[in-house]
Amino acid sequence: MKTNLTQIHEVINQHGTNREALVEILRDLSQRSGYLTKEAMEVVATQLQLPPSEVFSVASFYTKINVEQLGKHVIKFCEDAPCHIAGGREIWEALEHKLGIQFGETTTDGFWTLWPTSCLGLCAVGPVMLVDDEPYGNLTPEKVTDILNHYRAGDAA
Ligand code: FES
Repeated sequence: MKTNLTQIHEVINQHGTNREALVEILRDLSQRSGYLTKEAMEVVATQLQLPPSEVFSVASFYTKINVEQLGKHVIKFCEDAPCHIAGGREIWEALEHKLGIQFGETTTDGFWTLWPTSCLGLCAVGPVMLVDDEPYGNLTPEKVTDILNHYRAGDAA
C-alpha cells in the first residue's frame, strides 16, 4: 500500500508532536488506512523526533494498531544500548544477512518479519531477541542460524 504523506501530516497536526501523542497518532493512522506501513512509522518517528525502534515497539504492542503484512514469525531484536554494547551490532547484521531483508521488512515468502525494538527487560543476557513471544538471549551469529533453522524445520515437519 502506498503511504499517504498528506494524511500522516494531517494526523500529526491534529495530535501534536509530543511523545505522549504517539499512541493516538498510530491508532488514528491505523484506523484510517487499515494498517500502518513501515514508511508511515518512519515518517512519524522523524516528525516526533523518536527512534524508529520506539515507534515500531509501540505499534506492535497495541492490538488495536494494525501493522502491514507481518510474516508468519516476527523477530523483534533489541537495539537499546546495553544489548548493543554486548555485541548487538554483529547480531543485527547477521539477521539482516541471513534473512536477506532489512529491519522493518518481511521476507518475500512471508515467513519472517524483522523488527527493531526497545529494551525487553532481559539486558543481563543481551544481545536479545524475541521470536513471536519466545525470548532468546546471549545471541551469537551461530546461535541465530540455529534458531532460524529450528523454526524452518518446525514448519517443514
Ligand atoms: S537493552 Fe536489550 S533487553 Fe534491555
